[in-house]
Amino acid sequence: GVVRHYEFTVSRGYVAPDGYLRDVLLVNGAFPGPLIEANWGDTVIVKVHNNITGPEEGTSIHWHGFLQHETPWEDGAPGISQCPVPPSRSYTYEFIASLYGTSWYHAHYSAQYSGGVLGPIVVHGPSQEKYDVDLGPILLSDWYHKEYFDIIEEMLAPNGSPKVTSDNNLISGKMNFDCSTVDPGDTTPCTNNAGISKFKFKTGKRHRLRLVNTGGDGVQRFSIDEHMLTVIAEDFVPVKPYNTSVVTLGVGQRADVLVTANVGKPNSAFWMRSSLTTCSPSRQPNAIAAVYYDRADTSKTPSSKAWNIPNADICANEDLSITEPLYPIPLPKPTLTQNMDIELYKNASNVTLWKFNGVSMRTDYNNPVLLLANDGNFTYPAEWNVVNYRKHTSIRIIVNNKGPVSHPMHLHGHNFFVLHEGPGAWDGTIVRPSNPHRRDVHLVRGNGHLVIQIDGAPGIWAFHCHIAWHASGGFLASLIIEPDKVERMHIPHDVEKNCRAWDMWSKYNI
Ligand code: C2O
Repeated sequence: GVVRHYEFTVSRGYVAPDGYLRDVLLVNGAFPGPLIEANWGDTVIVKVHNNITGPEEGTSIHWHGFLQHETPWEDGAPGISQCPVPPSRSYTYEFIASLYGTSWYHAHYSAQYSGGVLGPIVVHGPSQEKYDVDLGPILLSDWYHKEYFDIIEEMLAPNGSPKVTSDNNLISGKMNFDCSTVDPGDTTPCTNNAGISKFKFKTGKRHRLRLVNTGGDGVQRFSIDEHMLTVIAEDFVPVKPYNTSVVTLGVGQRADVLVTANVGKPNSAFWMRSSLTTCSPSRQPNAIAAVYYDRADTSKTPSSKAWNIPNADICANEDLSITEPLYPIPLPKPTLTQNMDIELYKNASNVTLWKFNGVSMRTDYNNPVLLLANDGNFTYPAEWNVVNYRKHTSIRIIVNNKGPVSHPMHLHGHNFFVLHEGPGAWDGTIVRPSNPHRRDVHLVRGNGHLVIQIDGAPGIWAFHCHIAWHASGGFLASLIIEPDKVERMHIPHDVEKNCRAWDMWSKYNI
């Protein structure tokens, strides 16, 4: 493969995606950040400069969905695989584009990504389904008018609420907002009719849309009026094509869909919609964008009617019987089965936190688990929530959700098998054991279960809820696979160079 070089500078800036001016963190001054594009198997090198000042923050970037099996130290999870990049310093990530399809990168430091540090990734690879036009990434994202750290501080205050309400919903970083609904006394500049995203369809042609949920919390329901969507990949896993009028995506999930522009005339226009489900509270849950056929007047708004889509309030992914990987991998027998429970609790100071596998995680940014394990240290404070699987590599995990809220469960470094998902406790059945679904994020519904299995790779891998506010509330575990191999890894010295270089990040280790 070829080597792709990128240079990212993370700094503070102002954007108004929906007209309401926000103080945010940006990659190269842009929201969303620049596209990373590669061919399957290429080497990607990204030099990340931390230029965040006034006040300073650390940062680190995670390349969501890549396996990192040869390079777990480039995974970008601070306190787990590296120390954060301190202010006015840099770190150069180097990894293989090991999978193809659509993904995104995002800060993995506190809830910083919901403050703006994110962007799309496209890896070109083979496609069994033919298409004519690649429309590129379409980022679906709930949007908050408050700064991410203020949201966390409010949430983690004594008697704070774990429920965070978004202010808007964006398609590719745009949406309108009704400024008259801004709280009285809020003097932040706000412009009505900031504008929506616009897309062009070539009449009669087949288009590829790369959908990514890059939000902080909300589950998205994506559709285009009167057009069927053919799903060809979910996360980095090609699937047997299936047709649907709506695609559901939890935070971190992706879907590659094909859409044929044969519904309208060459001058037709249609609405593209993405709506937050009822399990994701929002002041403005319905995002729209416009799709114009070749000869449509792009100054006119579409007048198409929405599909009659049942309102989803279970917040679950598509039924597993429908989502079947294109390239089958039969389910092996696990050597270990573990239950991991999701619970909400109040600590002694009345702060509401999440417990995952019995622990509410607090990280130590100066002591990444991977580097300690590489030094032969395998005893950690309980609050780091480290699970050491020792020799086991074929591991089944039953996630039991003890609360009413759904969670997008994400495991780093793997496309896990999805054995079963549903309400209540697992009854032991497996959907399609000859070829279970695989992806890197899957929703577990409220008071339900999600059963996954991995063919684990040596390393330390974060397993967490991808809702920014939940991860910051302690909803994260680190899984150690094959510690003896981790101990023998040759980790480049650069990975350690930023450790203990700044002592101010304790404030942000949530
Ligand atoms: Cu996309 Cu640990 O995250």
